Amino acid sequence: MLDLFADDEPWQEPLAPGAVILRRFARLHSPQLMAAIHDVAARSPFRHMVTPGGYTMSVAMTNCGALGWTTDRRGYLYAPVDPQTGNPWPAMPESFQRLCDAASHAAGYPDFAPDACLINRYQPGAKLSLHQDKDEPNLAAPIVSVSLGLPAVFQFGGLTRSAPLQRIMLEHGDVVVWGGPSRLFYHGIQPLKDGEHPLTGGYRYNLTFRAAGYYE
Ligand code: SIN
Ligand code: FE2
Repeated sequence: MLDLFADDEPWQEPLAPGAVILRRFARLHSPQLMAAIHDVAARSPFRHMVTPGGYTMSVAMTNCGALGWTTDRRGYLYAPVDPQTGNPWPAMPESFQRLCDAASHAAGYPDFAPDACLINRYQPGAKLSLHQDKDEPNLAAPIVSVSLGLPAVFQFGGLTRSAPLQRIMLEHGDVVVWGGPSRLFYHGIQPLKDGEHPLTGGYRYNLTFRAAGYYE
């Protein structure tokens, strides 16, 4: 049978208005991306944040870039300083910037200029409940999400929590970009299954690039 993807070239799958999956887009660069994740985590370690409601998140998180997403008793916020170390978040690695730039161009958002990258680390059982990314002041900017390591089921819904969900397996190197009409769509990650990945061991990592600062 003719294998259309014999060369394992990246391909695109439309997801929703304004949203697309760039399959395997980050795969070739994944070793550099993983090395950069470890560099960031050496300076701002992964931690399980506690939500304002007192719930300890199962996903471990850190950030890089001018701003980092974090939680405190008052709520969710973007801050320039890592509250755990007292230092600014590590700078956005060049490999991150290059990949995000290429992905946002490929997805039709050529002007995207992220100033924050949240790095999520999932161990088996870890999940991210259905939520909207709505802590960013500029909703004209998309979200660029890069999956590395173990596969996970991504849920992508609509503007209300009860909207029907698409369930999509995200694999190593897949990039999802959502913006425009789907910028505020609910999404989440189902509990990670056990596994072993040659590059990431027993983990899944996810990078989400955001424009989080104030803008004119
Ligand atoms: C997120 O919603 O911030 C992350 C989604 C993912 O891990 O794929
Ligand atoms: Fe999110």
